[in-house]
Amino acid sequence: MSNRAPLPPEIARRRTFAIISHPDAGKTTLTEKFLLFGGAIQMAGQVRAKGDARRTRSDFMKLEQERGISVSASAMSFDYREFRFNLVDTPGHSDFSEDTYRTLTAVDAAIMVIDGAKGVESQTRKLFEVCRLRDLPILTFCNKMDRESRDVFEIIDEIQENLAIDVTPASWPIGQGRDFIGAYDLLHDRLEIMDRADRNRVAESIKISGVDDPKLAEHIPAELLQKFHDELEMARELLPAFDRTAFLNGSMTPIWFGSAINSFGVKELMDGIGEYGPEPEPQKAAERQIDPSEPAVTGFVFKVQANMDPKHRDRVAFVRLASGHFERGMKLHHVRTKKPMSITNPVLFLAADRELAEEAWAGDIIGIPNHGQLRIGDALTEGESLRFTGIPSFAPELLQTIRATDPMKAKHLEKALTQFAEEGAAKVFKPMIGSGYIVGVVGALQFDVLASRIEQEYSLPVRFEGSNFTSARWISGDKAEIDKLVNVNKGHIAHDSDGDLVFLTRLQWDIDRVVRDYPGVKLTATKEMM
Ligand code: G4P
Repeated sequence: MSNRAPLPPEIARRRTFAIISHPDAGKTTLTEKFLLFGGAIQMAGQVRAKGDARRTRSDFMKLEQERGISVSASAMSFDYREFRFNLVDTPGHSDFSEDTYRTLTAVDAAIMVIDGAKGVESQTRKLFEVCRLRDLPILTFCNKMDRESRDVFEIIDEIQENLAIDVTPASWPIGQGRDFIGAYDLLHDRLEIMDRADRNRVAESIKISGVDDPKLAEHIPAELLQKFHDELEMARELLPAFDRTAFLNGSMTPIWFGSAINSFGVKELMDGIGEYGPEPEPQKAAERQIDPSEPAVTGFVFKVQANMDPKHRDRVAFVRLASGHFERGMKLHHVRTKKPMSITNPVLFLAADRELAEEAWAGDIIGIPNHGQLRIGDALTEGESLRFTGIPSFAPELLQTIRATDPMKAKHLEKALTQFAEEGAAKVFKPMIGSGYIVGVVGALQFDVLASRIEQEYSLPVRFEGSNFTSARWISGDKAEIDKLVNVNKGHIAHDSDGDLVFLTRLQWDIDRVVRDYPGVKLTATKEMM
């Protein structure tokens, strides 16, 4: 990072990130406050629903439907200070899905929100592991400090031990639960006092010359001040100091303590992303690495979302720009189909509304409405043939046969399934033998989501039935051996929605058998989306 030439200022000010957390830790509330302080919304909403119903939806949709904020997008852009933030939504349901993984391929950093009373929870750990695969820098926000929470050292220890990452305090909380009065900003030497009376008011910020400044005693009761000094001394002995290089390479996370609902600690976290967070990072393609400062526009599709506007059957492909300065009306090269594509109505999601994007820079996320030409993994360039790597498709872990309740509607079902496969919402396999389709997902909840979407969007009731198979592997390798394998095992063979050959398995034994009998054939659990 440090040996790269400085980026053009428009690109250097961009911060593209996602928020990861376990359900209920406060991701939606934090997002809402980001938008509030980014000037994207006027007032945080009030209405909210509870429980599982809301978890099947994206967190942005949750914001929209429950709080009346219009944010129907998977990415939102807003300005904060001199920075342009691009916040990319991660799917809200608690099943780990490919969507989540792909979202994280489009960002340069992640904010990990944990509940101060609960510490590191299962979903946090899973998402963290995905971030680690890409060495993403992580900023940690320990939320709900206004409530009884665990001991600060215990929380930090748990993160260090559970996630094997160094933790450095960016702020230190003062008091706890009912006695929580605020935090000391260790990176700027400021005392931040929480306002309990007005949840949307930003904390009072008092400049302090250092932790020994007598001014602290004017604001902090004596016993809390003593505890603060003792803890800080211990923290200095036990915890590493902030090291930007370690943070940027993903081996150290700074932690802020706050309360999203009270708007406390949120601005400090935003300052942290702005001041220390990564600028747009180079992106990898099979051919070469693409640097954001390159003048030619390149980008890749990491998500396709259908029916964002119920009146139109359009889809929006979300493109992460890897390089260049994009301008509306540009004609880009669609690498997979080798055709030109005029991008006349790209959308930039400026929180309050979808807006036509007149321009965008490397690091930005733009939405391109289309009728199915753009799929996940597709590359757009100014002519170069590039294949972005690292956007995998995972073998599903659960397979079921899908049927339309009305057998006359088979054609409709095919259309719906094609759409969902292209959106990346499920894997769809057409077995060589027999009629019908097999649908594969990574988490069981996805079957329910799919059934309800097909019913709503295509007025097509469907049912899922058990299938003989439990998993699928993509087939590659020696052509003659593949032909032989296919001929002898027709009952196990299917095509995926891209027409690629797949081996459907019942047991690990099936896979072992193929590996043994067909040494020239490879069975893989992931394939690159291209
Ligand atoms: P999620 O997106 O991560 O699932 O979490 P969300 O923001 O929806 O927050 C989950 C619950 O936690 C919400 O309560 C929210 O008000 C609360 N919460 C968020 N931040 C804070 C905080 O800083 N302090 C406290 N005390 N609570 C916070 P809810 O949905 O209204 O549930 P309930 O409180 O009615 O049970």
